[in-house]
Amino acid sequence: MSNAETATHWVEPLAGEEDLDGVLAVEAASFSNPWTRAMYEWELQNRAVCHVLVVRTPDCRVAGFCAFWLVVDEIHINNLAVLPDLRGRGLGTTLMRRVLTEGLRLGASNEAARRFYEGLGFRATAVRKHYYTSPTEDALILWREPDGTPDSQLDGDGQTTPGSTGD
Ligand SMILES: CC(C)(COP(=O)(O)OP(=O)(O)OC[C@H]1O[C@@H](n2cnc3c(N)ncnc32)[C@H](O)[C@@H]1OP(=O)(O)O)[C@@H](O)C(=O)NCCC(=O)NCCS
Repeated sequence: MSNAETATHWVEPLAGEEDLDGVLAVEAASFSNPWTRAMYEWELQNRAVCHVLVVRTPDCRVAGFCAFWLVVDEIHINNLAVLPDLRGRGLGTTLMRRVLTEGLRLGASNEAARRFYEGLGFRATAVRKHYYTSPTEDALILWREPDGTPDSQLDGDGQTTPGSTGD
């Protein structure tokens, strides 16, 4: 339990069907066009990218949740909601703080993904200083020119050019 979390509520990764039932209940109570079970099941097949955190209280297994994608070091929030009766008590804030620290920690440590993109011609063009906390790290912004420069490592049909596979 982090400092931001208290005995009144805490955040955990989605764990099993019972949690998914809870997420769907929060969805139904929060959105006019809620995501369906099938949509979540499809999403959750790709656990490397799709993440769901739930916020619990002593009386409520799933009081709120956040579903987000993590692609290299960018977080994309898909859905975020807290049960109507439990809003305004800090649960949403605690959840988002945890999403940021969890997501950014995973992203910063994803050396394989960074190398993968660099191998395709993306280059680090900017640094967001101290973007991450726990631990504190800089974030890299990766950029690739439309024509594939600087190295033109792919030819027109997507084949790698011989000798361009990086290190
Ligand atoms: C957005 C949402 C997740 C926030 O969750 P929450 O647990 O109520 O948020 P918190 O209690 O941590 O409140 C954080 C801040 O939000 C604002 N806020 C929360 N409820 C508010 C309200 N009814 N009116 C105005 N501001 C409000 C306040 O600035 C609050 O900070 P403060 O407590 O210091 O004043 C929740 O309102 C919700 O589920 N909304 C419906 C779904 C939704 O719109 N999701 C976001 C888009 S995907």
